[in-house]
Amino acid sequence: MTEFVRNQWYVAAYAEEVARDLLGRTILGEPLVLFRSEEDGAVVALADRCVHRRYPLSASSLENDTVVCGYHGFTYDRTGACVRVPGQTRIPRTARVAAYPVVERDSLVWVWIGSPDLADPAAVPRARHLDAPGWATVRGMEPIDADYGLLVDNLLDLSHETYLHNGYIGTPEVAESPITTDVDEDARVVRVSRRMADAACPPFYARSTGIAGRITRWQDIEYFAPCLYLLHSRISPVGEPERVFRTEITYAITPSAPGTVYDFWAVSRDFATDDAELDAFLYDFNREVVIQDVDALNLLQRTLDTEPEGYQELSIGIDTGALAARRMLAALAAAAVPGSAAVTP
Ligand SMILES: [Fe+2]
Repeated sequence: MTEFVRNQWYVAAYAEEVARDLLGRTILGEPLVLFRSEEDGAVVALADRCVHRRYPLSASSLENDTVVCGYHGFTYDRTGACVRVPGQTRIPRTARVAAYPVVERDSLVWVWIGSPDLADPAAVPRARHLDAPGWATVRGMEPIDADYGLLVDNLLDLSHETYLHNGYIGTPEVAESPITTDVDEDARVVRVSRRMADAACPPFYARSTGIAGRITRWQDIEYFAPCLYLLHSRISPVGEPERVFRTEITYAITPSAPGTVYDFWAVSRDFATDDAELDAFLYDFNREVVIQDVDALNLLQRTLDTEPEGYQELSIGIDTGALAARRMLAALAAAAVPGSAAVTP
C-alpha cells in the first residue's frame, strides 16, 4: 500500500461541483463536506461528522452559510464552530468540527490535508489551461478501488497505451519509443518525455484534428507529487511541422481511503475550441479510455490482494518515471511525519 502523504494540497472537486448542495468527499481517509458560501462565494470545507453522534453533515442541509445536522439539528458555521444546539442555550465548548484550508484555482478546488498552519496557497501547482482563454476542456471523475500508487504507476508509464488503449489513444510506436526521465526533488516534479517522429495517428487524434496520415507525436509528462499530473501532448502531421495541435491531459490523483482513489481527468485543447460536437466526442471517447484504466486497476488491485505476502515485481527501463514517483511519495510521506518513520495509513 502506498503511504498517504499528509500536509499537502489535494483536489477535492471541480469548482462547478461545489455549489449550494452539500458535497461529501473523503480524502486521505478524512471525510469532508463542501459547499459554496452564500456570503462571498468561497468554498468551505468542514469535517463531515457531527460532533454529537457522528452523523454525516453531507447528508444534512444548508441554512445560509450554516450546516444543520440532519439528525438532531446541531448547527455549524463556516469556521466549523457549533452555533446552535437544539433544546439548550449552552453550547459545549468542544462542539466544533475541523475546517480545512481551501484554494480554488484553475477551476479546481484544492483542500489542505494536514496541519492547517502549514498550508501555503502558493504551493498549489498550476493547471492554467483548465481555465484559460483559448482552451476548451471536457472532464470527469471516476473513483477506482485501488491503491492510489497504482494510478500513479499507470499514468507515468504510457507504454500501456499500446496495449490497454489500442484503437483509442495507443499505437505500436508509444511502447516502442524510448523515454527520458528527469526528477526534480526540490520542486517535487517527475518528468517523463517521449517523441515519436513518425507514428500512426490514433483515433482519438485523427477524429479530433482531422489528420488522416502519420504524425509526429510528443508526450511530455509532469507529475507534481502527490496530486497533479499533466500530460502535455502535441501532434503534427509528418511533413507539416507548422501545423501543431496541442492537447493538455490533466489528472488529479486524490487518495480517498486506503484502497480507493478519485481519478479526476480532463482533456483540454487549443483548437476547435467552440466545437460542441468535438466536446461530446472527446468526453465520451476519453471517458472510455479512463474506464479502461479503471477496470484494469480494479482488476489489478483485486489480484494483488490475493497475492502472497512479499510478492516480487520486475521493473524495466520504462518504469524509471514511476519508480521515481514512488520514491518521491515515500520521501514526502516520511517528511510529513517529523521525527518518525513514515506510517502506513
Ligand atoms: Fe491509461
